[in-house]
Amino acid sequence: MQLKLKLCDVRSWRTADAEPLTRYADNRKIWLNLRDAFPHPYTAHDAREFIRSVRNRVPETTFAIAVNGEAVGSVGFVLRQDVERVSAEIGYWIGEPFWGRGIATEALVALTGYAVATYALTRIYALPFAWNLASCRVLEKAGYQLEARLRRSAIKNGVITDQMQYAYVVPDPDALNEHDRPPLESRG
Ligand SMILES: CC(C)(COP(=O)(O)OP(=O)(O)OC[C@H]1O[C@@H](n2cnc3c(N)ncnc32)[C@H](O)[C@@H]1OP(=O)(O)O)[C@@H](O)C(=O)NCCC(=O)NCCS
Repeated sequence: MQLKLKLCDVRSWRTADAEPLTRYADNRKIWLNLRDAFPHPYTAHDAREFIRSVRNRVPETTFAIAVNGEAVGSVGFVLRQDVERVSAEIGYWIGEPFWGRGIATEALVALTGYAVATYALTRIYALPFAWNLASCRVLEKAGYQLEARLRRSAIKNGVITDQMQYAYVVPDPDALNEHDRPPLESRG
């Protein structure tokens, strides 16, 4: 898979990405904002195992964010199951030297569109920690809306924290605009 964008490409992970992946992922500031499944310190072994596992996964839902061919970050989604199979959770990180250039926003917009179109999703959500103002801003710029503050819902680095629930919701094509709806008493 490859999405060619203005600032970056979102593409399949390659075995050769292990070296830059180790270099950029081995960063406490990144680890502090991700789930504990993301290792710290991040070793070359972790990078090889991650790339092997995402390349073997079917369907492929986790991708490299590449700048000038080099993998500098990751963006991926987890498809929910059963009655929530129209939903997915999305996550991302960018190597620190590349922060503040709009790369995460561009990658998030592109992968949101890809996931919705490929899996007929109606909703994609993200759960940044409340202290992660940069990620909240990225989600807002990408068209996600704040739905809830999940109070004391997570623990990171030994600290209980709130999570901010953001979602991108695909409008229901059959839903009438609120102003076009018949008055309550005349509804069937
Ligand atoms: C969050 C992260 C992905 C942002 O990546 P990025 O490529 O720098 O994002 P963008 O450049 O597209 O946008 C960043 C926005 O956040 C803003 N921002 C950065 N730090 C901020 C802060 N402390 N407070 C408020 N806004 C902040 C920037 O000004 C920018 O907004 P603007 O375009 O309106 O100026 C990156 O910092 C990162 O990887 N962090 C660690 C991992 C992480 O948090 N992942 C998300 C988990 S939910």
